[in-house]
Amino acid sequence: MQIERAREMGFCFGVRRAIKLLEQAARKHGTIESLGAVVHNRQVVNRLAELGVKIVDNADQIKGSVAAIPSHGLGLPQLEKLKSDVLTVVDATCPFVRRAQMAARKLAQAGFQIVIFGDAEHAEVKAILGSCEGRGIVTTEANIAFVKPPRRLGVLSQTTQSPERFGQFVKELLDRILLDVDELRIINTICDATRERQAAARELASHSDIMLVVGDLNSANTRRLAELCAVEGVETHLVEGTNQLEAIWFKNKKHVGITAGASTPDETIDLVITKLQNLL
Ligand code: F3S
Repeated sequence: MQIERAREMGFCFGVRRAIKLLEQAARKHGTIESLGAVVHNRQVVNRLAELGVKIVDNADQIKGSVAAIPSHGLGLPQLEKLKSDVLTVVDATCPFVRRAQMAARKLAQAGFQIVIFGDAEHAEVKAILGSCEGRGIVTTEANIAFVKPPRRLGVLSQTTQSPERFGQFVKELLDRILLDVDELRIINTICDATRERQAAARELASHSDIMLVVGDLNSANTRRLAELCAVEGVETHLVEGTNQLEAIWFKNKKHVGITAGASTPDETIDLVITKLQNLL
């Protein structure tokens, strides 16, 4: 049996950067309070907790003088308020998320209504919505019931959505509203790391008998990788670590493909591959 890793997988630039910034800040300041988990991965969160990074749910819970913003970001007005309320803010917002936030703010200030293609419950999407100055909505359905069709409409995406799904959404939306709007701006805010990881996962899934996607169940980009592999018609399992591997999955399989979410540490991937080699 052959085990093959996707050519792009695991920690992305934004996650590596966020973890490094929080580690440096914790070493310098002792205790810091992070507005949510730095990334959606329990092992990473536990390791940072040992260094002194505490997680709080909202800015009102911050008691100390050092706050951290995770890679998913915080709405721009809330971030600006936090910077004026708290002595030191360690801003680990991924630059790709910041780009989407700035695009949202510019559109709002130019009088556009903004549609964000994404998961309304995701912290990053909340942060982009929070940058829309009250002019944004979040959806994954193009069937939007506008009270009054907007004259100027801007469309953005959550950074970790699939480019194909965003493209399909935009096409359907155009079919419905093109003749009603005066001006339409579509900004593709899907990040490079997401595009590369998704393309690599699909390519690997297309010639594998089984795919393992390693990552946290709470990680949106990890779940998306698993969906894409399954769409290729290959048996796909999302595992958080070695405990979930089952020998029966690999019976009569010749080619195992491995990929991992952008918040999955290299050590977790290596442990899964080692356990897999021992199972086979
Ligand atoms: Fe940033 Fe994309 Fe990673 S938005 S945190 S580079 S998945």
